[in-house]
Amino acid sequence: MGPIGVFDSGYGGLTILSDFRERLPEYDYLYLGDNARAPYGGRSFDVVYEFTLQAVNELFDRGCELVILACNTASAKALRTIQKNDLPRIGLHKRVLGVIRPSAEIIGQFSRTNTIGVLATPGTVTSDSYPIEIKKFSPQCNVFQHACPLWVTLIENNEHFTESGKEFIRKDVDALMAMNKRIDTIVLGCTHYPVLKDYIESLVPEGVNVVAQGNIVSDSLADYLLRHPWIDSKCTKNGSVNFLTSENSVEFNLNAKKYIDVDVKSVHISL
Ligand code: DGL
Repeated sequence: MGPIGVFDSGYGGLTILSDFRERLPEYDYLYLGDNARAPYGGRSFDVVYEFTLQAVNELFDRGCELVILACNTASAKALRTIQKNDLPRIGLHKRVLGVIRPSAEIIGQFSRTNTIGVLATPGTVTSDSYPIEIKKFSPQCNVFQHACPLWVTLIENNEHFTESGKEFIRKDVDALMAMNKRIDTIVLGCTHYPVLKDYIESLVPEGVNVVAQGNIVSDSLADYLLRHPWIDSKCTKNGSVNFLTSENSVEFNLNAKKYIDVDVKSVHISL
């Protein structure tokens, strides 16, 4: 038995963890941020897969039976290979889940015009995971994607609300909205982006839904645990949360507070 592992390239997954803790407060969580090697968004398939597998193994070694890739880039580029090729070798009782499928399953319901925009990292956009997955559940929807190569770096470096940071973000949002006038729903397809939600809402016409994944993924995890009682029974439930980072832990503790409302005392690890 062990905590639920939550992995992201950096701080972004904390936005998901925060929603997990609200929705499923009784569980224990172990968060791992690979801050030393973030961002992942511009990295190749092979490298994202290699880094993600290292992180997943680390969380398994620390007792997690279930790991959530709270990172769209890792979900897009590494999840399927880990599920198909690595889990059978590592142990059939272990589980790894991502954030794209639960979001894609439900997002069609948000749109009245059946026109959805996706903002994500270059890695997620080039994988085409969102259009492919959304079409499976909502074939009537048209999906437009725009890659935001600088956003994760701006957020990780806390520069997203500087004048130049805001200008980069505005240009990317405008570029997405210019792709189709009927876009009425925007998926924030990167777990770092919820920190920009209010700002993005101020840039788009009134009535456009800007959707962060946290609630959707938490509902999906709650449902998954209900449907898989034997996995649920392997998740410890003392309401604790612990943090690991591949970067400096003092820096992590300071920055993490902006994403999650708990006292963060992280431990540095090498991946
Ligand atoms: N939070 C990650 C995501 O959801 C950021 C990826 C990156 O490091 O570029 O895609």
